Amino acid sequence: MVEQATYNYKVVRQFAIMAIVWAIVGMAVGVFIAAQLAWPALNFDTPWLTFSRLRPLHTNAVIFAFGGCALFATSYYVVQRTCHTRLFAEKLANFTFWGWQLVIVLAAITLPLGITQSKEYAELEWPIDILIAVVWVSYAVVFFGTIAKRTVKHIYVANWFYGAFIITIAMLHIFNNASVPVSALKSYSAYAGVQDAMIQWWYGHNAVGFFLTAGFLGMMYYFVPKQAGRPVYSYRLSIVHFWALIFTYIWAGPHHLHYTALPDWTQTLGMVMSLILLAPSWGGMINGIMTLSGAWEKLRTDPVLRFLIVSISFYGMSTFEGPMMAIKTVNALSHYTDWTIGHVHSGALGWVALVSMGSLYYLIPRLFGRELYSLKLVELHFWVATIGVVLYISSMWVSGIMQGLMWRATNSDGTLTYSFVESVQAMHPFYVTRTIGGAFFLLGAIVMAYNVWRTVAGAQAVDAKIPEPQLVHAH
Ligand code: HEM
Ligand code: HEM
Repeated sequence: MVEQATYNYKVVRQFAIMAIVWAIVGMAVGVFIAAQLAWPALNFDTPWLTFSRLRPLHTNAVIFAFGGCALFATSYYVVQRTCHTRLFAEKLANFTFWGWQLVIVLAAITLPLGITQSKEYAELEWPIDILIAVVWVSYAVVFFGTIAKRTVKHIYVANWFYGAFIITIAMLHIFNNASVPVSALKSYSAYAGVQDAMIQWWYGHNAVGFFLTAGFLGMMYYFVPKQAGRPVYSYRLSIVHFWALIFTYIWAGPHHLHYTALPDWTQTLGMVMSLILLAPSWGGMINGIMTLSGAWEKLRTDPVLRFLIVSISFYGMSTFEGPMMAIKTVNALSHYTDWTIGHVHSGALGWVALVSMGSLYYLIPRLFGRELYSLKLVELHFWVATIGVVLYISSMWVSGIMQGLMWRATNSDGTLTYSFVESVQAMHPFYVTRTIGGAFFLLGAIVMAYNVWRTVAGAQAVDAKIPEPQLVHAH
């Protein structure tokens, strides 16, 4: 394998395999907590098995362990291939792998024990936060060092997205986790009251914008053209997309704090910026989908491409829904309801998980020099996962809107029509449906793991010359 000498695939392989392992762990916890919401007895009266402790374990495992490993794997691959050079500081790259796995293991131990900063998506206590900062800065050194030693002049657009993701996450993580430690495992936020909330949702929303979006757009801009065998639809649009997206996202955080003590003008600014965000988001979606123009028939025969294209459609859907939910009057209904959970998972399962899985199906054969074991199983995975997402998000929409309407319904004398517990009862069938949808999605991930295992353990490396289509039109 000539490529092995040219590029460092070892660290890419490690991250790619761990992405699949953590996907299964994180989603299994997701299915379990979904079942707990339907059948609370599953808490087993055991503190470390309660929903409250396993929920952050789920979010950390799927976002930072699964999503994070997929982002590390693909960014290390893409930056080498598009810069025509090996990774910079390979020992440091190795450290990012082991350091990140250590963070994940520490999260898996501390969260069920109830050790938490109580900031959503930033639950981990200060010693782990310091480790994250060290790993992340090392990641930045490896990534930007590789860009600096590139042997081609141009910096391909996927790297811009990965680069923005790496820089912004470093900034958000460091500022939001500023705290005063009082013991080895307990700290208090450096901010108080509404400032604390503002910083937290500046972090939280941009964790969505940069961790769950910009990095994955980097994936889209590399793997969709590669798998489709077509150059990016409009390279110019991809540049406009990049600058417009990163400029706008950073302002949108206050839409998480509508009708709170946050000054009203701040909430309105967050709402307006969220509405504007529709434009760059859809520009990017159109650019991704239109990359297929002239190659639509490939969707019929190529299940890997189907993963990628359907993920972009879900990206379009969730970035339409998000701005709508950011409108204050709509948020008055959706906030605190399952509608938010439906929105989250149309982005998380439909976009983040599917684009990662499609990209991993592209990567695995190339990383291991083997043909994929079974395209039929990829096809099966695709359908099982799609049915799973649809069951998940449609049940949450119905449940969410129903909750919102029940809570605000009043009788002619001004009293509430429904008690809270009646709304809880009404949610039950939807919680069961969501659990089934989640189980389907998890089943798909298990099928993928089997397929990848058979591929990697395959008898013989075929070392096939897998075609490498151009990313950009020759000028
Ligand atoms: C098998 C698949 C999955 C299932 C069954 C599942 C289930 C759940 C459940 C039951 C909750 C708690 C909802 C609540 O508090 O009412 C949740 C929250 C969450 N999940 Fe998942 N999940 C899955 C996959 C994922 C993936 C792949 C991601 C991200 C890439 C993700 C991201 C999140 C986030 C961010 C939250 C918190 C949402 C919020 O606070 O509004 N989930 N999930
Ligand atoms: C233009 C793009 C988007 C906008 C304007 C947007 C807007 C919103 C709004 C208004 C909420 C509800 C806030 C609340 O009532 O508490 C929300 C929640 C959320 N969104 Fe989005 N969204 C967008 C795209 C996405 C995407 C693509 C993803 C995932 C990949 C995502 C993940 C989430 C998560 C995880 C939450 C829950 C946060 C929490 O309360 O824990 N969003 N979003």
